[in-house]
Amino acid sequence: MAREQWGTKLGFMLAAMGSAVGLGNIWRFSFVAGNNGGGAFLLLYLVFVFLIGIPLLLAEVSIGRKAKSDVIGSYQKLAPGTPWFLTGFFGVFSAFLILSFYAVVAGWSLYYLFHYITGDFFQAPAEGGYEGAFGGFITQEWQPLFWSALFMTMTIVIVFSGVKKGIETANKIFMPLLALLLLALAGVSLSLDGSMEGLSFLFRPDWSALTQPSIYVQALGQAFFSLSLGMGALLTYGSYLSDDKRLPGAAVGIGLMDTFFAVISGIVIFPAVFAFNIDPSSGPPLVFITLPSIFEQMPLGGIAGLLFFFALSLAALSSAISILEVPTAYFMRLFRWSRTKASVIVGVIMFFLGISVSLGFGIWSGITPIGERNILDSMDYIASNILLPLGGLSMALFVGWYFTKATALKAVDFGDNVIGNVWYGLVKYLLPVMIIIIFISSVL
Ligand code: PHE
Repeated sequence: MAREQWGTKLGFMLAAMGSAVGLGNIWRFSFVAGNNGGGAFLLLYLVFVFLIGIPLLLAEVSIGRKAKSDVIGSYQKLAPGTPWFLTGFFGVFSAFLILSFYAVVAGWSLYYLFHYITGDFFQAPAEGGYEGAFGGFITQEWQPLFWSALFMTMTIVIVFSGVKKGIETANKIFMPLLALLLLALAGVSLSLDGSMEGLSFLFRPDWSALTQPSIYVQALGQAFFSLSLGMGALLTYGSYLSDDKRLPGAAVGIGLMDTFFAVISGIVIFPAVFAFNIDPSSGPPLVFITLPSIFEQMPLGGIAGLLFFFALSLAALSSAISILEVPTAYFMRLFRWSRTKASVIVGVIMFFLGISVSLGFGIWSGITPIGERNILDSMDYIASNILLPLGGLSMALFVGWYFTKATALKAVDFGDNVIGNVWYGLVKYLLPVMIIIIFISSVL
């Protein structure tokens, strides 16, 4: 059977943007920025996106397009008889870790959507407000699992419907809707009393935050997570791309779009956080408490909330499918499984892994695998701050050092000109050095 392909280049770009834009931009970005002092974090994050993220994104997609295989197969094909393929296992492993907690958080979003459909969340619940409602929900055993299972089922169905029909069509609809909603919400959030404080938290860096080594790892991890880098999601999507589609413009477009969504959601969330006196470092629950409070303040807020959680769930879905696609593509080739069989088996395993994440907010909240972190935070930490940057490092080394310069430039459609050389220098030297330094400084 011929390998699948995207219908058009635009289809690929939308799918890659769909992968990049997700819970990472809204949910993860806001609590990581909130925990790390706001402005200084944002600045560092932007530096990493442009210096490391976008050049690496180009390299990652090009590996897939050149090899036309999954994350492990690509290395085997391009570097036969070498141990390079081992780095592909990082990707498959990260996919299992990330989707198992991602589906839990996406399940929360579906639960909110449901309560906006029924109207229950149009107004803060009398007892405990939104904070109480959220806390009461995530600490339960069965309810959150139900929503997470529902989310995983939708993800599996799209993935087994195939690359073109499922993934591509879904993204064409979701992305523009989410952008419009976020822009409208930013307007409302800015009009709240006390919004200025939130803006200065986000845009006025407190330089002393930069003296903490952890902020560098966090900003790097956020850049990787948000751009879907280092796991092979974009490599796998690139493998469905034919050689005549040019890559550089697409890579910049994906990077800019992802950054746009992160900054806008910061502008939505932080003014509201300060206006409603919420602690910006309240961690993963942050957006689930802040956003409903904004909706409550605005005219037709119930409808806005409904649309928002609809779009957020869809954005999560378009990212989740790209994560599920990584092991699915691998197992389809390895065991010659059908797409349906591979995606169902992988998805179900991930759901089971996610059960521990969900219970980690309730009966298993005493389990803290790494430091003070609960199960979700621990899995997120390992995947985003360690595995993704390591996966990215190996991609940079592969393109920068295993390929000849001519092969590398050709793989990304650059000529041997200024831009080509700048990109090559970044990928070959600067990027690996920066990733290694940040790494070492975080363990010391
Ligand atoms: N980038 C996605 C988001 O921001 C998450 C993701 C991470 C997707 C890694 C694929 C690979 O939500």
